[in-house]
Amino acid sequence: MAILAPSLLSADFAVLGEQIEVLKQKGVKYLHFDVMDGVFVPNISIGIPVLECVRRITDQVLDVHLMITEPERYVEAFAKAGADIINIHYEATSVPEQTLKSIRELGKTPAITIKPKTDWRKIIPFLEYVDMVLVMSVEPGFGGQSFIESTLENVKGLAEYRKKNMLDFDIEIDGGINENNVGTVVDAGVDIVVAGSSVFSSDNLAERTELFLSLTDNRQL
Ligand code: DX5
Ligand code: ZN
Repeated sequence: MAILAPSLLSADFAVLGEQIEVLKQKGVKYLHFDVMDGVFVPNISIGIPVLECVRRITDQVLDVHLMITEPERYVEAFAKAGADIINIHYEATSVPEQTLKSIRELGKTPAITIKPKTDWRKIIPFLEYVDMVLVMSVEPGFGGQSFIESTLENVKGLAEYRKKNMLDFDIEIDGGINENNVGTVVDAGVDIVVAGSSVFSSDNLAERTELFLSLTDNRQL
């Protein structure tokens, strides 16, 4: 079984509350919230004020993916704004251990994220401080890109290491997930599946959500 985390990056922000309501009604438990600073990635997205608004209208788990340089400067602000999980990029900070510990001290779930070209072994020293690892399966910055097959090596490496060492962090995947590859990534050991454009780019959000919920849940069989 895997959890579906629709990425709000692909939502229609003019009717964000209505779309979140549809996801909630369908039983979506996690919402993925992409924050971009135009420096760590070549794009700018949403941030603290939008997160506060989303927090006010839902109890769903808010999974905040910080694609920002020196995330240590902002973890407290995102914690206060209502994040539940805070993902920081390994490549974005020189103080990952300290930042992950401070997320935990703020009462939030710490997670570390790696870009497609970063070998999973690089984050071994930090696994003891996290409850989740986010494996990027596209270069961070934009929705709607194609899945990078080689990133499955990161998923498999982490899943094997977790088993061998009896660790219990979740593995999340983000980028290019669609109805054709979702089964493969779950079989590789993924627990949480982010899907943006493949859920939102449709006239019928409820129907697409239902499809992806069934595709992720079915993997428990
Ligand atoms: C990309 C973001 C993703 C994005 C995924 O940098 O981190 O969360 O929304 O979008 P899709 O599912 O369309 O690849
Ligand atoms: Zn993301």
